[in-house]
Amino acid sequence: MTSYLDHAASSPPRPEARAALARALDAANASATHLAGQDARAVVEEAREDVAAALGCSPHEVVFTSGGTEADNLAVKGVVWAARERTRGVPHLVTTGVEHPAVLDAARWLAARGDAELTVVAPRRDGRVEVERVLDAVRPETALVSVMAANNELGAVNDVVTLAAALRERGVALHTDAVQAVATLDVDVARWGVDALALSAHKFGGPQGVGVAMLRRGLGVVPLSHGGGQDRGVRSGTFSVGLDAACAAALTAAVAERAAVRDRLHGWTDRLAGAVVALPGVTRSGPTAPEHRLASHLHLLLEGVDPTALALTLDLAGVAASSGAACGAGAATASPVLEACGLGGTPLRLSLGWSTTAAEVDHAIGVLTAVLPALRAGAAPADALRAVRTVPGTVGA
Ligand SMILES: Cc1ncc(COP(=O)(O)O)c(C=O)c1O
Repeated sequence: MTSYLDHAASSPPRPEARAALARALDAANASATHLAGQDARAVVEEAREDVAAALGCSPHEVVFTSGGTEADNLAVKGVVWAARERTRGVPHLVTTGVEHPAVLDAARWLAARGDAELTVVAPRRDGRVEVERVLDAVRPETALVSVMAANNELGAVNDVVTLAAALRERGVALHTDAVQAVATLDVDVARWGVDALALSAHKFGGPQGVGVAMLRRGLGVVPLSHGGGQDRGVRSGTFSVGLDAACAAALTAAVAERAAVRDRLHGWTDRLAGAVVALPGVTRSGPTAPEHRLASHLHLLLEGVDPTALALTLDLAGVAASSGAACGAGAATASPVLEACGLGGTPLRLSLGWSTTAAEVDHAIGVLTAVLPALRAGAAPADALRAVRTVPGTVGA
């Protein structure tokens, strides 16, 4: 049996997304004027309307991208460059130490080439970002604040609503990376009051390689790429009809069952946590209050466990989880997010999603409670696996 507990890296595609992709694979070029082109364009526009309905914004504010990375880059660079053009000065940009590299590295790159002055706000130890600290960093020349809705590693949820309201009073735009949030949090652009928001379809049951940038009407954005001028010039390139349709179908399905998934996953991540934090040297990281953490994420810090042995043992025992930052190159390097939070130890992130079953959770509990004490005692993966073999329903049992 295998427990796939790495939904924060990629969730399996939903049936609705597969069907939408299959239906639209034969689409013509959606910018062509012939009937086949118009049919294809209708699919894209319907997808845009569905995404807008799911997010609580206008279809004009939805731009399909190649994923979360492009959506973040478009918002961060696009808004800063537009402010630079408008003011002829160097705009100020505020972000946080727990952002995904799609935001943080984009911001640092802008600062390094003199396109922006950058302030990186330090997070709390639990991965949350204090609204007051962000507001303290804002200056008259601040063009954009970028604070993620929820963190990919710790699952820490930020108070985007309060931040957006305070920034609106100061006339400063807010971008939020909602890539990890949207599967379980009620993302609502109108209620949240954000100016830009990024999504990635493969985090909510859509295909890899497609995402959404929500850009509020009137927000000046300089495009990242130039070409055919599609999507009102904001994102040139032939529309990806099938991926856009699949992204919209997945988001609609995810939103429809979001409350039920959230309740289910809260119960399961707590059950997993309850089983493993009873073990010596295991602590749960991230926020403690349920409303401050994603239902889908359980982040653990393991004392005295070798990360390579952990990764190998879990893999062999049929538990797919992340023992480092998921979205990087896969190398077991220290996580900048954990460093920013002042956390140490061997990290283990278990992330659940729409397709997770109770059996997968039970299997993972069986494996973890067997191997973690063995690994902590210095056992090699082969020896730690022998402990797993005694767990019914697992490898070799
Ligand atoms: C918070 C966050 N932002 C952005 C991304 C990048 O999204 P994509 O993989 O679609 O480029 C990821 C994960 O990959 C993420 O977790």
